Amino acid sequence: MNPATPNRLCLITGANSGIGLVTARELARQGMALVMVCRNAAKGEQARQDVLAASRTKKVDLLLGDLADFASVRRLAGEVRNRYGHLDVLINNAGLMVDQRTTTAQGIETTFATNHLGPFLLTNLLLDLLRKGRAPRIVNVSSEAHRFARFHPDDLVAPKKYSSMVAYGNSKLANILFSNELARRLAPDGITSNSLHPGAVKTNFGAGNGGILALGFSLFKPFFITPEQGAETSIHLAASPEEKGRTGLYYVKRKPKNPSGDARSDYFARELWTLSSRVTEVES
Ligand SMILES: NC(=O)c1ccc[n+]([C@@H]2O[C@H](COP(=O)([O-])OP(=O)(O)OC[C@H]3O[C@@H](n4cnc5c(N)ncnc54)[C@H](OP(=O)(O)O)[C@@H]3O)[C@@H](O)[C@H]2O)c1
Repeated sequence: MNPATPNRLCLITGANSGIGLVTARELARQGMALVMVCRNAAKGEQARQDVLAASRTKKVDLLLGDLADFASVRRLAGEVRNRYGHLDVLINNAGLMVDQRTTTAQGIETTFATNHLGPFLLTNLLLDLLRKGRAPRIVNVSSEAHRFARFHPDDLVAPKKYSSMVAYGNSKLANILFSNELARRLAPDGITSNSLHPGAVKTNFGAGNGGILALGFSLFKPFFITPEQGAETSIHLAASPEEKGRTGLYYVKRKPKNPSGDARSDYFARELWTLSSRVTEVES
């Protein structure tokens, strides 16, 4: 058993599929208690049974929440707070890419809402539980696609032109900027925050899209790594004793790597925080 994992409680989003499912299964196998967050009850329960079978502690909970809907995120955070008095690890893993422009119940472009604003809101609503955790860690699953971003804070919520790749890249840049700003803000509390690129991974990612995106994913899939390989960096950041105290870094293949210049900008990180707290109505 990994000495860093027993009696630790980890919440992971997007836990029913791909990288999230493998991460949950492996952390449970190592001895962590798991809270799996999924948006679909049937898929979530099937995944919970899978993780339970591997779990050492048999402490595997399933909570439902849609990250694209702020009301749902608030309900989810309330449920977590009702059930648990602390949290040791938070993994913001859920994410998607959307072929055509769509908007959420709150009128926000879906990729930005799901991949950044929902996790921003959830994380902020769980900070007091993390402050009560032991050596707490936040892990944010980003992507090398952040290098395709064109970061204009006033063009994220309702972009004038829609490109799925730019919207996805912007959301993944936001994951790194958010992770870095969390690291700065939470350093006095001893909470670490890091981001990562999992690799190009054979999962359900992009499968819900029609047209060119789905075709692109299916053409390249034979060259992608397995979900087991894709989950390695998330598992490492969540559980490895080596990473204790390291914060504000971006990882690829379990090693720190320089993200883009925009991703290293403190100015962009602060601008994004201001925008996100205004849109999600989080006090900060
Ligand atoms: N696969 C890659 O090559 C790759 C590369 C770089 C980064 N990533 C990142 O890795 C993370 C995991 O992706 P994956 O490859 O494992 O893809 P996946 O198999 O499609 O898993 C994505 C997960 O996110 C969940 N999700 C999507 N929208 C959600 C919402 N509105 N509310 C709650 N959950 C939601 C999905 O739930 P449903 O099953 O209900 O849809 C699913 O559980 C993502 O953040 C992605 O950006 C992936």
